[in-house]
Formats: sequence, structure tokens, C-alpha cells
Amino acid sequence: MPFHHKVVFIASEIYPFSKTGGLGDVLGAMPLTLRRMGVDVAVITPFYGRLSTGEFKLRLLSSRCPVGYPWAPITAEIYMADYHGLPVYFIQRGEYFDRRFYYNTHEGDYFDNCERFIFFCRACLEWSRRMDVAPRLIHVHDWQAGLVPAYMHFWRRIDPFWRDTKTMLTIHNLAFQGRFASRLFDDCGLPAEAWGMDGVEFWGDFNLLKAGIAYSDLVTTVSPTYAREILTPEFGCGLEGILSKRRAHLRGILNGADYNVWDPSNDRYLPCTYTPDDFEKKANCKESLLDELDLDPRLGDRPVLGFIGRLRRQKGIDLLIDILPRLMKMDLGVVVLGEGNLEFEAQLMELMENYPGRLAVRIGYTEDLAHRIQAASDIFLMPSRYEPCGLTQIYALRFGTPPVATNLGGLTDTIVPYPHPEATGFTFPEATGESFLDSIRQAVDVFDRPDEWKRIMHRAMLADFSWERSAARYLEVYRELGIDV
Ligand code: ADP
Ligand code: GLC
Repeated sequence: MPFHHKVVFIASEIYPFSKTGGLGDVLGAMPLTLRRMGVDVAVITPFYGRLSTGEFKLRLLSSRCPVGYPWAPITAEIYMADYHGLPVYFIQRGEYFDRRFYYNTHEGDYFDNCERFIFFCRACLEWSRRMDVAPRLIHVHDWQAGLVPAYMHFWRRIDPFWRDTKTMLTIHNLAFQGRFASRLFDDCGLPAEAWGMDGVEFWGDFNLLKAGIAYSDLVTTVSPTYAREILTPEFGCGLEGILSKRRAHLRGILNGADYNVWDPSNDRYLPCTYTPDDFEKKANCKESLLDELDLDPRLGDRPVLGFIGRLRRQKGIDLLIDILPRLMKMDLGVVVLGEGNLEFEAQLMELMENYPGRLAVRIGYTEDLAHRIQAASDIFLMPSRYEPCGLTQIYALRFGTPPVATNLGGLTDTIVPYPHPEATGFTFPEATGESFLDSIRQAVDVFDRPDEWKRIMHRAMLADFSWERSAARYLEVYRELGIDV
């Protein structure tokens, strides 16, 4: 059987096999959508020790794929799964990927992340090099795959196999750059000329995301507003210079939502499903979650505010912590699901003790609970300090849970803010506790006017962020690169 794919995605997460956040969700949906649109796409990703293989069988394709880094005879095992018709290749090397977490523990990043992901990038390219025909496009995601475009840039000069292969980087979060000591550059296999301001060097360090930005034929990020924001020092995380240089090759394409997974009319984690025409069932979901989380059943009639996300400053969880005592003076309930910063976790747990029956905090990563909170909450909280796209607010819209969110990044591009006649949610201008609290107050006021509230819920549920539309934008960009898709 001939072995080749027109487009190869390289990414460090793909739902349902692996996920720590939105990157996993995007990889679980975008390539599959492209495949359904007729593009021959495959994905390459690490084989983590904690891979959720579920119903999918993994097949060993190669037990000794030579990688050549960090020592010459080193090899990787390659596995494959058929994910609803999408080939997913897994790079396995126990010492690198068979760990409790993907990137870091509570103590910090794994000390050998640079080595792990250089190995990963090199293995992906070695595996792609075995194809009968080279892919036309290698589409990589975030810093973990950032070196691939750099290798390609130099290798296609000397290896005719790669001559017609283009590269594209999608940035999901500019704050995570994969920044390492310069000595790790020495044996990564790039020529000395890559070390410089227009290459992989960043303030004397080796920066893997910058490698992707500098050497990809095209760079995209996950919303049009974030694509503009990252050209400024406020949001550019130090990379605004190189991004501005590459501005003509930078595009913002909004993510989609996978409504096979995130839709209350067919959600397998809910006690009952509902559509825009039967909100009463949403009330049943709420009643059941209040019970599950030991919250006061009287909250059935009062707004319950939900937060789901990584407990990091990015997500503004500290702003929520800051205003919680004041929120608790209002007649409402709050539910928080997340994990991350240990201090935030501890503060939230302490607050929960003070407000039994009104505030529920669950620390941990629980996919099914995330769905139930989306369905049961009345208002979804997203006070992010920056947000490349944000998927949880898009899911919240579909669940009829109007978001209250900062007006920036992908939040701006997905929420129509009240009092617009087509409003689907609420936004506030700056990530401060006061501004956030004002916006929640406004939302609660409208909540108390049921007819108006129902109209907002209804519009939110009908807003369409399906992947087909976003995938069509990606196809346009692929065509800009001369790829016939
Ligand atoms: P980010 O990628 O910045 O974390 P997104 O909104 O794009 O933010 O995606 C977050 C994804 O991770 C969503 O699918 C969300 O439901 C999920 N998620 C985040 N935290 C948790 C958690 N503690 N438990 C379960 N799912 C979570
Ligand atoms: C990142 C961003 C988030 C985005 C996700 C998927 O994790 O923080 O805003 O939705 O990637 O692109």
C-alpha cells in the first residue's frame, strides 16, 4: 500500500488520546473535519504513558525508526490508530514520554523538555521521510513542534525529497515558548546560521516557538483579534518583533467547536439532554449538579456562575478569587472546576469552607464534570488576561450559558456583548476585579428579567462555531501556499 499524506499535522496533544487544554480539543476536531472535506490529512503526536486509547486500537508500525538525536543510533517506535478514518501516528520512546504528566509536574517543567521535544520533532520528520511521496504541507502546533519548520527550512535546500514541502505554524498560546539554555542548540541538528535574531535565538536562549515563527512559510493563530494583539508589547510576550517582521505571513483563524462532543442535545455526560426549544431540561441538569456538588437546592431559581479552566493568571482566576467574597453577598451560587497553581487551589478550597452550599470548588481535571457544569450553570465566567481563542466560552454559548468575559482575543471574536440587540453574552473592558464584578452584576440584572434572559440564551445556543467554517478558512490559507486542496 502506498504510504503518503498530503498534509501532516504535528502536535503534542490530540483528544481523545491526550489533552491538557484547548490544543487537544482543536487537534481532535480540525484534522478530522479536513479529512471529511476530502483532504488527505494525518496527525503525528507523542505516545504518552497516559494515553487514553479507549475504543481505538493501536497498531505497531515500526519498532525501530531511526531518529539520530540525541545520539546517533537512537530509535523510536511508531504506532498508529485509525481515529474515525483519520490516521494518527504516535511516537513512542518510554524514557521521554512514559511519565505521569506531559510537560510538567507541580514542581515545574520536566528538566529535559528541550531534549524530549527535539527528539519528538526529529522523529516526526524521520517518519514523514519514509513516505513514498513527501507531504505537501507540514502543519505544526505550538512550541513542542516549533523546530520542525526550522529543520525543513534548512533540509529542503539539501534533500530533494523535501523540496516542495511547505510548513505552517499555528500558535495556540504565545506565552508558552519552549525557551531553553543556548547549549541545547548545539547538537539539535540545525546549522550555526539558525542562531541569531532572525532565527532561534531569543535573548541568548534557544526558543523553539520562535524557530517556528521565523521559519514557517505561514504562521497562524487562533483568532483574528489575537493575531493583531500579538504584534504589540502588551500581548507579544517578547516575540512581537519577529511577529511584526513576519506580519505579511501571519493570519488569524478562529477555532471551531466540536459539536459532536460539546452539544447539550447529544451530550453523553449529562443527566438529560436539551435543545434551544426546551430549556426546562437545562433546569433539570442544574438541579442534578446542585445535588452532585452539595449546593443549596434553592439555587435552582438563582443564577449559578460556572468557571472551568486552568488555574493560572491567564484565566484571571485570581480576579475571581478576589471578588468571591463580594459575589457571595449576592443571591447566587458559584462552581469552579480547575487545577494549576497550588496557591490558587488552596485559596479556593479555603473560600469554599466559608460558603457552604453556595460555593463549590473541585480541584482536578474531570472531563465529564466539565460538561455537566457547562450545562448546569446559568452564567459562564471567563475573566482572562489574554485569550488566544478560548473554547470554553464557545461551548458555554452552545449550552445556553451566556458568558461574562474580558473583551479581548478570541473572546471578542466569539461573544456579542449585551446590550447589543443580538447579544449572546457580556464582556468587560479590562481584566480587573471591579470591571469583572460590574459585568457580573449586569448579567444578574438581566437574568432577573426572564424574557430578556431567555432571548440571550436562545441566541447563544444558535450561534454557530462549527469546525466546517474554520476548516474552510484553513483550506484558503493552504491554497495561498500553493497546495491543491
Ligand atoms: P486553554 O487551552 O487555554 O486551557 P480553552 O478554553 O481553549 O483554554 O480549552 C480548555 C479545554 O480544557 C476545554 O475543553 C475545557 O473544558 C478543558 N478543561 C480545562 N480545565 C479543565 C478541568 N479542570 N477539567 C476538565 N476539563 C478542563
Ligand atoms: C490555547 C489558548 C486558548 C485556545 C487553545 C486552542 O491553549 O490558551 O485560548 O482556545 O489554545 O487553540
